[in-house]
Amino acid sequence: MPIIFHSDERLFHLMTPRSSYVFRVGHDGLLEHVYWGARLEDASDLVRLARACERLDARPEHMRTIDIGSLRLEYPSYGTGDHRDPAYEVLQPSGSHASQLVYESHQIRPGKPPLPGLPAFYVESDFEADTLEISLVDPAISLRVILSYTAYRDFDLVCRHARLENAGTEPLVLRRALSASVDLDLREADFVQLSGAWIRERFIERTPLSPGRHEIMSRSGASGHKHNPFFALAAPHTTEDRGEVRAFALVYSGNFLGACETEPMRQNVRAQIGIHPSDFSWRLEPGERFVTPEAALVYSDEGWGGMSRTFHRAIRTRLCRGTYRDRVRPVLINNWEATYFRFDEEDLVEIAQQARDLGVEMFVLDDGWFGQRDDDHTSLGDWWPHPRKLPNGLRHLADRIHALGLRFGIWMEPEMVSPKSELYREHPDWCLHVADRPRSERRHQLMLDLTREDVRAFVVDAVSRVIEEGAVDYIKWDMNRPMTEVGSAALPPERQREVAHRYVLGLYEILETLTSRFPHVLFENCASGGGRFDLGMLHYMPQTWTSDNTDAVSRLKIQHGTSLVYPPVAMGAHVSAVPNHQMGRVTRFALRAGVAMCGNFGFELDPRRLSDAERREARQAVERYKALRHLVQFGDFYRLLSPFDGPEAAWMFAAEDGSEALVAYFCTYPDPLDPPARVVLRGLRPEARYACEALGESFRGDALMRHGLVIPRQMGDGQAVLIHLKQIGEGDGP
Ligand code: DGJ
Repeated sequence: MPIIFHSDERLFHLMTPRSSYVFRVGHDGLLEHVYWGARLEDASDLVRLARACERLDARPEHMRTIDIGSLRLEYPSYGTGDHRDPAYEVLQPSGSHASQLVYESHQIRPGKPPLPGLPAFYVESDFEADTLEISLVDPAISLRVILSYTAYRDFDLVCRHARLENAGTEPLVLRRALSASVDLDLREADFVQLSGAWIRERFIERTPLSPGRHEIMSRSGASGHKHNPFFALAAPHTTEDRGEVRAFALVYSGNFLGACETEPMRQNVRAQIGIHPSDFSWRLEPGERFVTPEAALVYSDEGWGGMSRTFHRAIRTRLCRGTYRDRVRPVLINNWEATYFRFDEEDLVEIAQQARDLGVEMFVLDDGWFGQRDDDHTSLGDWWPHPRKLPNGLRHLADRIHALGLRFGIWMEPEMVSPKSELYREHPDWCLHVADRPRSERRHQLMLDLTREDVRAFVVDAVSRVIEEGAVDYIKWDMNRPMTEVGSAALPPERQREVAHRYVLGLYEILETLTSRFPHVLFENCASGGGRFDLGMLHYMPQTWTSDNTDAVSRLKIQHGTSLVYPPVAMGAHVSAVPNHQMGRVTRFALRAGVAMCGNFGFELDPRRLSDAERREARQAVERYKALRHLVQFGDFYRLLSPFDGPEAAWMFAAEDGSEALVAYFCTYPDPLDPPARVVLRGLRPEARYACEALGESFRGDALMRHGLVIPRQMGDGQAVLIHLKQIGEGDGP
């Protein structure tokens, strides 16, 4: 039973395989946080400890009074004595925001109900998790808040969200409604975040917490390039294998806030995650409810590696859905960097043909195939084939691609409209805008107003038609601008601040409809590269274009940082031409291929321009990837050496049962005078013996995991070594 209620102590104990999350109904019915850490078998001892401490408190009476502002709370209120950040704020008809929630009732049941209209982790059988729902009320304003907690039986994952209901007779306006707030007794901790920019996504940043606030956020309408909706609090000196980590990630793709408020004496850290309150408000009429997105809380006492593997497994198996969840992903070629906007049907077929000869399994036609689109100034919204480039229509091209034995994929940017388009001429009010204000264009485009039902119907219809007419097997769903003038012509003035969230809900509704209507289609998420790489999108699309930066050296850091939360199978990683189009760097083919093979592998180049030697290498890389992709895509992932620490990086993908593994070692600038690199492996069985073809030997798991694998030295920049280990038996003999 993952959730236990100790009625004497009014204590809730959520248990996962290696963690416990504990809170209780405390003083005056307030919900007080007690503990989140390594698993306890009996959490009621924590209450006895606290009581003993209170009993023996030798301070004078006036120093012992309990103040709400110093309690550890589970969903703190505003304006009634706690001056730290609240979890929610409600504007009442009186003009007041003051509120106080107290315990009303609770219910524990097996399983995990879905969140209406929102992406979420799920269960396949009720046995996999328990869900606790706690009802809290503020009787003075007839607000009821249901806090939902799910504890998983197989992952150290607790999912939380809140439902806020207007149980009164007058409207209430939510000004803040976070998904989770946890008050932690952490005397020292590092705040770890993934931050970056376009072509430099998700670099790992680590800052020691000090009194005051530390926060990450997006206010651009999407989760964004700047910060990822994830942060972790880690014990100082936490490594890949050791140390306690408490991680927070939001299953959401819009504006978000992740914040920690540390008290001056460091006696408490309030960690919060949810929708960013600055572009948010929600009017609740009597009887209405608002559901926050889900927050995923992961605990690890096995350092960063433990945290990542929990996220990876849970994401792969209980967040992603659809036909491709458990299927190996096809090796694809995308024509973007090969042709940009300049191509015709013959070019595409030639590219596809040559790619097929390399062993590629899918051809993806990127931007520029529709309307009058010859550059990025026009045609978004006009989703019919470009008459000059594709005079025979989409199906004709698709048939030729299919005839080559390849699957056919296509790029769309369905959330957008170009002011130079037929769609915009017909429906100028279908974009997000504010009356009487100029509409700011980014990349010469505007965002469709997905809060509107008619616009959502248009998008579903347009994408469906392209899929059906083009017999499409894959969609690259792009999104290339932030929100500005966040307003809707279809909503009344008092609901305009709801637009950013309503947009995301609209997007989710569209994606739910399309992914259920076309279960065989593989969807890949993209937003100027990795600008919307989040758990929300992964619920609908099982892979994401990690970054527009395809340079192998840059990719080491981008993929390493991304892997903190997201599994390699979710990361699109393509071999591109040199000099690299974003960085201008020239790297060896082997490095480009090796780095790309550590993700969801493909090509982003023109195969017609490859030399014979490169062609050979490309063919070998595809063949090798196909033989090993089950490990990369479904194995356990270990970071062995970090590219943030020096010129080396090493990663490992191990079969869950330890019977097989792939080790990838990279050195951007090797020095032949350095001693050979020694990489200490993980995830093997100590007593098993592994054949290592690359070194022409076999080794025991314990030798590889204690002494390490020694990497033969190579000359020249950009060393890439992929080593496959396969169990051949137990014990000593080779
Ligand atoms: C941005 C994407 O990240 C690129 O891969 C490419 O699809 C372009 N958009 C096309 O406009």
